[in-house]
Amino acid sequence: MMRPLLLAVLLAAGNCAVADPHADYLLFCRGCHLHTGEAVLAANVPSLRELGPLLKSEEGREYIVRVPGVSQTPMSDERLAAVLNWVMTNFNGDTLPDNFKPYTADEVGNARRKLLLDPLKTRAEILSD
Ligand code: HEC
Repeated sequence: MMRPLLLAVLLAAGNCAVADPHADYLLFCRGCHLHTGEAVLAANVPSLRELGPLLKSEEGREYIVRVPGVSQTPMSDERLAAVLNWVMTNFNGDTLPDNFKPYTADEVGNARRKLLLDPLKTRAEILSD
């Protein structure tokens, strides 16, 4: 017999027909990024509320998909794109560039396959350009 809580988590994590990006965020991102997306400095977890500067370049936009917590999350490209767009519109109202185009499943699929070995170094390079 499977415990009801475990069953509920497995059902929620599976590819259900109706994806809910907020629920996916809570399941797959909150463990490190808190429900508010604020930084956890003691654990080197950056804020998800100031992503605007990264979105200004193609490299930065791609970096956001390539960080390990994003690229390796057990979610389809489509659901992951929806979670990223949810993060942008709900947490980044203040810093989001006016011309922000929502992530597509194809874009996410291509970017997440490019291994990112040193996220912090790549991030510093992107923001210093
Ligand atoms: C196991 C902890 C963990 C989980 C789970 C996680 N992240 Fe992260 N995230 C981090 C850490 C730590 C970093 C800093 C880069 C690094 O060291 O990988 C980061 C970096 C990021 C960044 C880059 C922010 C910046 O300013 O550089 C984004 C965007 C992000 N995460 C989004 C997400 C989303 C969306 C999810 C859920 C799909 C998620 N993360 C799941 C720990 C996590």
